[in-house]
Amino acid sequence: MKNHVVINTDVEKGTINKNIYGHFAEHLGRGIYEGIWVGEDSEIPNTNGVRNDVLEALKNINIPVLRWPGGCFADEYHWKDGIGPRENRKRMINTHWGGVVEDNSFGTHEFMMLCEMLGAEPYICGNVGSGTVQEMSEWVEYMTFDGESPMANWRRENGREEPWKLKYFGVGNENWGCGGNMRPEYYADLYRRYQTYVRNYGDNRIYKIAGGANVDDYNWTEVLMKNAHRFMDGLSLHYYTIPGDFWKGKGSATDFPEAEWFITLKKALHMDTLIQRHSTIMDKYDPKKRIGMIIDEWGTWFDPEPGTNPGFLYQQNTIRDALVAGIHFNIFHKHADRVQMANIAQTVNVLQAMILTEGEKMILTPTYHVFDMFQVHQDATLLAVDAQVNEYEFDGEALPQTSVSASKDKDGKVHISLCNLDHRNSADLQFDLRGMDLEAASVTGTILTANEMNAHNTFEQPNNVKPVDFSDVKIDGQSLSVSLPPMSVVVLAVQ
Ligand code: AHR
Repeated sequence: MKNHVVINTDVEKGTINKNIYGHFAEHLGRGIYEGIWVGEDSEIPNTNGVRNDVLEALKNINIPVLRWPGGCFADEYHWKDGIGPRENRKRMINTHWGGVVEDNSFGTHEFMMLCEMLGAEPYICGNVGSGTVQEMSEWVEYMTFDGESPMANWRRENGREEPWKLKYFGVGNENWGCGGNMRPEYYADLYRRYQTYVRNYGDNRIYKIAGGANVDDYNWTEVLMKNAHRFMDGLSLHYYTIPGDFWKGKGSATDFPEAEWFITLKKALHMDTLIQRHSTIMDKYDPKKRIGMIIDEWGTWFDPEPGTNPGFLYQQNTIRDALVAGIHFNIFHKHADRVQMANIAQTVNVLQAMILTEGEKMILTPTYHVFDMFQVHQDATLLAVDAQVNEYEFDGEALPQTSVSASKDKDGKVHISLCNLDHRNSADLQFDLRGMDLEAASVTGTILTANEMNAHNTFEQPNNVKPVDFSDVKIDGQSLSVSLPPMSVVVLAVQ
């Protein structure tokens, strides 16, 4: 029978690591500067230089971990340029992103303060491509050493007495590309060398993340795992959802035909295949799944908004992006035994952003609302789901019409997250919640949907796409049925 979903509320499949709801903020375009950091002297209301509106919005979605400073920027970043009195900091060119001046006013101290304000774990990406072993080693010493040492003393001189806690450290980024154009054999050796000097000081324990593959470069994963698995805690994977061609035209964020809706969601679903195949290779060397798959860059990548600096990667965000986010989370949940972290690219004003700003104005995107709705899954217990769903057909091709996952929180409340990918038809689903007395249960829901494929929020109409209560749910004995409108993301809470 199709469109029938069995959720075994008493079959627990492990924990959904809250870090799957992680973020990534690079020195790119208006991501850090203006988007997050405006400086203490700005007219935009701020706390110690961090804009208040963005801070409050991000706190609301409980960001568990934040990756910084890149991206490609990381392998050109020299951390010593970004500490000490701001007026003395080096001004340099951000050669990767737009050729603009980087004045280093947002550096290590500002980033760590931001993480403290957000209650998020810092995830720092070190420089392998153009930095030295000593530079990387000293950065870790600067941040985490408690005793008497040149770096720890320097940190104190710069105003921070106590060391910071730093768990997540990436040894390079995209070292197959912007991080040095290396072969996997060469990077595996460099990884082994650099990570040796990423030390644990005092009780600070670093979770070391090796730079992983691009999309379906399974050979990269094979070589890294074969040669360096003993030295890593995590291995990254990057995959962006791009409807068109990366070099010839990715497709517009807002002005796209039905065929691009379909291809975008098809490409989002490809994340499932990538995780499965990279996991199979990881399983060979790490059958106990000690090493986490860290998907530290994912999300949509469209053509930049017309009239903006193409190097700033600024794009609008529609209900289509919301579907992409929901689909990814349901996939990440399914692979919770291997996927320990994921970081959407990127938090503010860059690629699939949560927040867009224009001077002092700020809007929340449909993607933000999905992060908000899905935060109930953070650190919840994944439940076994068997979904037999209808097909969503377009132009002779078919995708599953709906995407589903479910978890149970610490109070026993079950959350079911659903996406109807179909841009024309509703999806009528029937649920069998085994192990739960539905007659005694109550169900509430939230929905994010729109009537147009390209519905989005603007500075003039900031609430075009926003979540509302969802009540199209029926309980009949032990059976629960819902009707999902086209192009919708729904989260149900059953207790
Ligand atoms: O997120 C934008 C860029 O995409 C990152 O800097 C890089 O790692 C990736 O290619």
